[in-house]
Amino acid sequence: MNTSRTAFSALRFSRLFLLLISSLLMNLAHAEDAVTAPAADKPADITPESIEKGRTLYRRLCLRCHGPEMVGGNNAFDLRTFPQDQHARFVNSVTNGKRAMPPWKGIISDEEISHLWSYVASRGGKS
Ligand code: HEC
Repeated sequence: MNTSRTAFSALRFSRLFLLLISSLLMNLAHAEDAVTAPAADKPADITPESIEKGRTLYRRLCLRCHGPEMVGGNNAFDLRTFPQDQHARFVNSVTNGKRAMPPWKGIISDEEISHLWSYVASRGGKS
């Protein structure tokens, strides 16, 4: 009878243990979610096609101030340092302009701005 008691508590213990482990694992899975889940604006969502369209637009419209491949612009913002998680700021600055930066509203479409974002946020497809 003693053995059955021991077996019983061992069973209870292992159940508890399993519960503990699985809740730990679930917590871990959630922690991983938080780290790896891409935020809506992150360059991870960006397609190579969009980057290439953005590159063409960039060369046509932005290169003269921001420099070839975003390098060596004439005192314009160094776009390689533009924060990759500030999509809304990008859209706003490109649409409405900012100081010496001209506004592009009415000149290019929202879709074209999103291709430019793909190009800039991915650093020309490098990240
Ligand atoms: C006539 C020159 C000129 C052209 C053309 C130009 N920019 Fe700019 N851009 C600037 C200057 C100057 C700044 C710095 C503005 C400031 O902060 O004073 C700037 C800043 C920016 C910024 C940073 C704005 C911020 O929020 O700080 C972005 C993004 C940007 N430009 C994107 C573009 C894109 C995309 C194009 C092409 C569609 C473009 N620019 C074309 C001159 C230009």
